[in-house]
Amino acid sequence: MAPRTVQISAVDLFCGVGGLSYGLKEAGIGIAAGVDIDPACEYPYQANVRAPFHKKDVRDLGAEELSAMWPKGAIRVLAGCAPCQPFSSYRRGTDTSREAQWPLIDEVSRLVEGTMPEVVTMENVPRIGSTPIFKAFVAKLEELGYRVQYESCHCPAYGVPQHRRRMVLVASLLGEIRVPKGKVGTDDYLTVEQAIRQLPPLAHGETDQGDRLHKSRTLTDVNLERIRSSKPGGTWEDWREELRAPCHRKSSGSTFRNVYARMTWDEPSPTITTLSYNYGAGRFGHPEQDRAISLREAAILQSFPRDYEFVAPEKPVHFASLGRLIGNAVPPKLAQAVGEAIVQHVRSVDAPVKRTHRRVVDPRTSAKFPGRVPSPSATV
Ligand SMILES: C[S@@+](CC[C@H](N)C(=O)[O-])C[C@H]1O[C@@H](n2cnc3c(N)ncnc32)[C@H](O)[C@@H]1O
Repeated sequence: MAPRTVQISAVDLFCGVGGLSYGLKEAGIGIAAGVDIDPACEYPYQANVRAPFHKKDVRDLGAEELSAMWPKGAIRVLAGCAPCQPFSSYRRGTDTSREAQWPLIDEVSRLVEGTMPEVVTMENVPRIGSTPIFKAFVAKLEELGYRVQYESCHCPAYGVPQHRRRMVLVASLLGEIRVPKGKVGTDDYLTVEQAIRQLPPLAHGETDQGDRLHKSRTLTDVNLERIRSSKPGGTWEDWREELRAPCHRKSSGSTFRNVYARMTWDEPSPTITTLSYNYGAGRFGHPEQDRAISLREAAILQSFPRDYEFVAPEKPVHFASLGRLIGNAVPPKLAQAVGEAIVQHVRSVDAPVKRTHRRVVDPRTSAKFPGRVPSPSATV
C-alpha cells in the first residue's frame, strides 16, 4: 500500500524527564502532552521535548481531559509507563497488597477504556510480565478490541550503550502490531568507550566548567583508595585486605561482585539505576578515572543526547533527584525504535476506515486543564 499522509500524536502519561517522548518524537510522532506528578520533570520535559507538560496525578486525570489533549483527526497514541515503585500509594496513607503492585496500571486501563486511542504503548521492568495486574491489563486491552504484543527488549540491540532489559508493550485497534526487534548485533553493541570516553576528565567531587551535569560525587578517603585499587571490569577481590569491608559479603558467604567496581571500556555499561552516581551502589566506577560516573555520563549511557537539559539554569544540580530522573527514564533510543514501529504500523493500515472506536467515557467529572496549549502532531 502506498504511504498516506496521516497525523500521529502521543500523550505520555508518567512522562518523567521525557526519555520516552523524546524517542517517539525522533521517530516522527508528534507529542501532544506529557503528564507527571513530579514538578522537577517540567523543565526538562518542556526544554527538550518542546511539548506541554501537565503537573498532575494521573489518578486525577479524567478521560475528557485526556481526550482534549490530542489534536482532532490525529491517530492517537497513549503512552503509559506506570512506575513500578509503589511510593505514590503511601502518599494516600494506604498500602494494600494490590497497591504495592503497580496500581497505576489500572489508571492506564481506565484511561484507555475512556478514550480508546488507536495505539497504546507501555515500557516497564520485565518482571511485570508475570504479575496478575499486568495480565489483567492485557486482558482488558484485548476485551476492548486491541491487538496486543509485549516482549522483553535488550537495550544494546536498540543502540543503547547499556545492558538493560525492559518490557515493551504495543497495542493497536488498527490491526496487528509488533514490538520492534533490535537491529544491532552483539558485535556492534555500543560500548562505554564509544559513549563517554570523549567527555572532559574529572576528579571525584569536581564539576565540569562547561556542563553542570558532568559532575562526579565526592568519595570518602577509603573509597578513593578502593577505586584506585580497582581494575576495569574487576571486583573488590583486586583490593588489598584492609580495604575490604564486611558489607562486601552476604551473611550466606556469597559476595557482591558488582558494587564498588569499575565499568570496562569495551562493553555496554551495566544497568543505569537511580543511584548510578554512587560508587558503592553498583558497577558505577569510571573505567579509568578515580571516581563514579557523572550524571551526564549516566544520561549518555541511557542514550540521551549529550546536550539534553535536565535542570533549569537557575536551579542546583542534586545527585539524588537527577540520578532518580535519569535512572527511571526510558532510554530514548529504545523509545525511538518503538516510535518507528508505530509509524510503520500506522502507515501500513487503512486507519481512517478502521477508526470506529473514538469515544470518551469516564464516570468521573473532570475539569479542563487550565491554560491548555494546542496540541501538536506530526505528519507521516
Ligand atoms: C518510570 S518514570 C517515567 C519515565 C519516563 N517515561 C521517561 O521516559 O523519562 C515514572 C514517572 O511516574 C511519575 N509518577 C508516579 N506516580 C504518579 C502519579 N500518580 N501521577 C503522575 N505521575 C506519577 C513519577 O514522577 C515518574 O516521573
